[in-house]
Amino acid sequence: MKIFEEIESEVQSYARSFPRVFNKAQGEFLFDEDGNRYLDFLAGAGTLNYGHNNPLFKQKLLEYIDADGITHGLDLHTKAKGEFLETFNEKILKPRGLDYVVQFTGPTGTNAVEAALKLARNVTGRENVISFTNGFHGVSLGALATTGNSHHRCASGVSLNGSSRMPYDGYLGDDMDTTSYLDKVLSDSSSGIDKPAAVIVETVQGEGGINAASFDWLRNLDKVCKKHDVLLIIDDIQAGCGRTGTFFSFEEADIYPDIVTLSKSLGGYGLPFAVVLFRPELDQWKPGEHNGTFRGNNFAFVTARAAIDEYWSDDKFSSEIKRKGEYIARRLNDIVTKYGEGNFTTRGRGMMQGINCVNGDIASKITRKSFQKNLIIETSGADDQVVKFLCPLIISDVNLKKGLDIVEQAVREVCASEEKIPEELDYFDPMYAIG
Ligand SMILES: Cc1ncc(COP(=O)(O)O)c(C=O)c1O
Repeated sequence: MKIFEEIESEVQSYARSFPRVFNKAQGEFLFDEDGNRYLDFLAGAGTLNYGHNNPLFKQKLLEYIDADGITHGLDLHTKAKGEFLETFNEKILKPRGLDYVVQFTGPTGTNAVEAALKLARNVTGRENVISFTNGFHGVSLGALATTGNSHHRCASGVSLNGSSRMPYDGYLGDDMDTTSYLDKVLSDSSSGIDKPAAVIVETVQGEGGINAASFDWLRNLDKVCKKHDVLLIIDDIQAGCGRTGTFFSFEEADIYPDIVTLSKSLGGYGLPFAVVLFRPELDQWKPGEHNGTFRGNNFAFVTARAAIDEYWSDDKFSSEIKRKGEYIARRLNDIVTKYGEGNFTTRGRGMMQGINCVNGDIASKITRKSFQKNLIIETSGADDQVVKFLCPLIISDVNLKKGLDIVEQAVREVCASEEKIPEELDYFDPMYAIG
């Protein structure tokens, strides 16, 4: 551990929560160099929906490397890229009726967001972009201007311009549809909000505290965008690639965004890879106008294609995510009923759920205690008040139950020490049977 303290920057974050040296991983497990095994409910912050070192993708990757397939990342046409595009078009876009072109950007989420914002501004000739309270879109300057979190924003060192914030769904209470406010503001030339190029939104806010927008709210947002001729950008970097139960998180809302950003689990193997998808009429880029050396990661093309072939050729995987998501919801509802004196609440959708502990100290105590029991799980939200469940989607039922048991035990211990209400936990309660 000494070398990390000696020369790695203070900017480290996840390593502080899980101070071990990890050197092996498989499926839903991580192993440290002492051979200890950890159940992973963080999944590389959502990059490992298909688990660590998925054996199917590993085999394809090994074959590709062994055959001296192209490794470097310029935007040349490669066989691997062509095959990825074909599979993505045939198995993801076409069956969903999505007519998009694909732009390869630098390989991180924030790269995709920058490109999406730039495209929207160039196409419309407008500068302002509407983003939402608690939204997180990355930490490069353009994306950061649309990000809510003050900890991240304050580190920018320059003023963050070109974005106006609006209240997300539920921000002003359950009875207020905040899209009416957006509509009002956009209808009023004296509202002080310049007509925007686009609205950028997460359907479930991952870093912002697992806030899930209702489908009605998303549909209303889509309508307001259309009414005012504003582009709708769905940032599906964290909620996409199956996390909420469908490949794109907006499918069930039945909307057709103008622009979509994808990254994190798109590569399938934890390999960096990002794209922006948009309606063909918006493809007004001039060649190389938005470029970058690593616009395409051929290894990620191979594993991304393998992931789509394996998991998205039919509905089976999607049904499994929904089934496991329902189980998670049941367990979390049960936990908040039993503990937290009525202050805890659940949130989220599919396999992107959380427990809002209201208080960041309590949530951190719960995740720390879970780590002592060999479960890796993080918090999210403005005050880190939400315990965030982001396990690999391929997790077995047994290990899903095990992870939730560990969290329940951690919650019970933290609440017992805070509230002095010890209570026996019955791991074998039949209501916890998954199915
Ligand atoms: C919704 C969303 N957008 C963008 C990003 C930024 O992605 P990256 O950290 O790869 O730049 C994240 C990262 O958590 C995210 O959750």
